[in-house]
Amino acid sequence: MERTFLMIKPDGVQRGLIGRIVSRLEDKGFKLVGGKFVTATEEQAKRHYAEHEGKAFYDGLISFITSGPVFAMVWEGDDIITISRMVIGKTKVTEAQPGTIRGDFANHTPLNLIHGSDSVESAEREIANFFDENELSVYDKNISAWI
Ligand code: PPS
Repeated sequence: MERTFLMIKPDGVQRGLIGRIVSRLEDKGFKLVGGKFVTATEEQAKRHYAEHEGKAFYDGLISFITSGPVFAMVWEGDDIITISRMVIGKTKVTEAQPGTIRGDFANHTPLNLIHGSDSVESAEREIANFFDENELSVYDKNISAWI
C-alpha cells in the first residue's frame, strides 16, 4: 500500500475548500490516515520545497506557504501518488483540466490549492517533515466491498 503527502495550501484553507477536496479523494476510494492544521515554519517550508531552491519563484513560494495554516494530510492507496496527482490536476491552472481539483477551483497558478508528492521518496520525506508516525492511524477500510 502506497502513501502520499497531500497539503491543502493556505488559499484552499482560506477559501473553505478542505471538505470538498477531502471528499474527492474519499470518493476515489483512498484512505485518509492523518490530517491536521499546520502553520509551517520557514525551516519546515524550505525542507519541503528544497528541490526548488534558487528558482525564480522560490522566495514567493516559501512566503506563500508560510502565510497561514495549511491542512496537511497523509493518504494511502494503491498507486496513490500517480492517481492523486491526476485528481489534483496540472500545476499551471491554464493546463489543469476541468474535473480536476485545480481545474475546477483554481484560477491563478501560485494559488493552486493543493500539493501532492511526486514520488515515493518525496512522499516519505514530506510525511516525515510534517508528521510523527504516531499521528498516523492504522485502520481497516473495507473499500473493496463498496467500490
Ligand atoms: S518546476 O520548476 O517545473 O519543477 O516547478 P513546478 O513543478 O512548476 O512548481 C513547483 C512548485 O512551485 C509552485 N510554484 C509557484 N509558487 C509560487 N509562485 C510561483 N510563481 C510559482 N510557480 C510554481 C508550484 O505550485 C509547485 O508547488 P507544489 O506545491 O509542488 O504543487
